[in-house]
Amino acid sequence: AKAQIGVTGLAVMGRNLARNLARNGFSVALHNRSQARTDSLVEEFGSEGDFVPSTDLAGFVESLEQPRKIIIMVKAGAPTDAVIDELVPLLDEGDIVVDAGNAHFLDTRRRESALKEKGLHFVGSGVSGGEEGALNGPSIMPGGSPESYAALEPMLTKISAHVNGEPCCVHVGPDGAGHFVKMLHNGIEYADMQLIAEAYDLLRHVLDLNPSELADVFRDWNTGDLESFLIEITAEVLSQTDPTTGGPFIDIVLDQAEQKGTGRWTVQSALDLGIPVSGMAEAVFARSLSGDVVRREAAAGVLPGPAEAKLDIDRQAFIDDVRHALYSSKIVAYAQGFDAIRAASEEYDWNIDLGAMAKIWRGGCIIRARFLDRVTEAYDRNPALPSLLVDDYFKEAVANGQEAWRRVVAAAATVGVPAPGFSAALSYYDGLRAERLPAALIQGLRDLFGAHTYKRVDREGSFHLEWSGDRSESTQ
Ligand code: 6PG
Repeated sequence: AKAQIGVTGLAVMGRNLARNLARNGFSVALHNRSQARTDSLVEEFGSEGDFVPSTDLAGFVESLEQPRKIIIMVKAGAPTDAVIDELVPLLDEGDIVVDAGNAHFLDTRRRESALKEKGLHFVGSGVSGGEEGALNGPSIMPGGSPESYAALEPMLTKISAHVNGEPCCVHVGPDGAGHFVKMLHNGIEYADMQLIAEAYDLLRHVLDLNPSELADVFRDWNTGDLESFLIEITAEVLSQTDPTTGGPFIDIVLDQAEQKGTGRWTVQSALDLGIPVSGMAEAVFARSLSGDVVRREAAAGVLPGPAEAKLDIDRQAFIDDVRHALYSSKIVAYAQGFDAIRAASEEYDWNIDLGAMAKIWRGGCIIRARFLDRVTEAYDRNPALPSLLVDDYFKEAVANGQEAWRRVVAAAATVGVPAPGFSAALSYYDGLRAERLPAALIQGLRDLFGAHTYKRVDREGSFHLEWSGDRSESTQ
């Protein structure tokens, strides 16, 4: 019998997805460029289900029932194009090619339209949850045509994570919608991690807590509103001891954060869409700054900080303040993230259901959190919600936390600990709620130096002042 679905690209993510499919009762065709990976999968895990290995791509395609469903799990960019180019001539009309890697959504749009012309379906699908998720249930964000989703749905929903019996998988929208949403997931992941890192840094510097005490703080936070996978593993990392030195593991890790690009893509795309995603942008910048060894070496111990670096502060009160700052900033990061998804959905006609995105992020993925239930509820209450921040629940949460949040940003500035995530989020919040912004001055300046015109609060139209003449106003 022929296999129901195939996976090509059997590095750890591909291998685990294939095993997940097989464990759930689907027969899985296997292919990898170098055969050793295929062999070792069958050797080690062959007993988990029905695997159909092939040594070459033609044999792999031949081993699949039609219409074929093929998952590609290779590096984003040129390697993905190379596999597609090799695969396409072997396929028949109606076959479905799924790219489950972290592709850029614009690449996915290009590939989808190229394959459509050949009568093939191309599905760019986000898959989140790392190696563990791929094996035991990831969050899955498929784009592409509704027909292709209908064909894939039984398998994808079965292998995905489930929360309260509901699969963490839904058809996001056409062409690149799935990969866009996965990219945004990663941008939010960056922001979440940056905020957690700032909370850790502030607590450590201001209160002199050691990593194991800090682990207890995060463990405690994980029993409340902040409950999430990332808070949980923060406690785990902070309580870890280094096997070599016997000291805290965190203190032997080089403080230069790396990145593979999805966070940067998120910010670049949001800039193109004109959506302020300052939380994610600061998270990407903070990673870049951490890796900027030349300038850090030139400045460390050279540039002066504040003279009085300790605050006279109550320990538990400050811990609570930082918790509020973290939660409020997190709400802002998600508000910005969902705003970017809404804007892209409008720009590309994707018709994305924002509440459904929060729903499929509740389990399986890296940003899974109790918080996402609140997001789903907010969009259930009002599908046209202009911003998460104006939803009653989130409005209330930030209202409760804002005084603490302001104290924390002020404390960070006072002691000289960088908190770009906390402070950018607070500035966004204050910018959004301002009745009047200094953008009026920007407009005045633009009109003076470049006759770029301005609009008035009291009349329709565009205006210009004769700045170098009699300063009379003209309608443009
Ligand atoms: C996921 C993760 C995954 C990847 C991160 C790491 O959802 O499972 O987001 O896709 O591990 O993107 O990204 P960086 O290496 O850029 O931190």
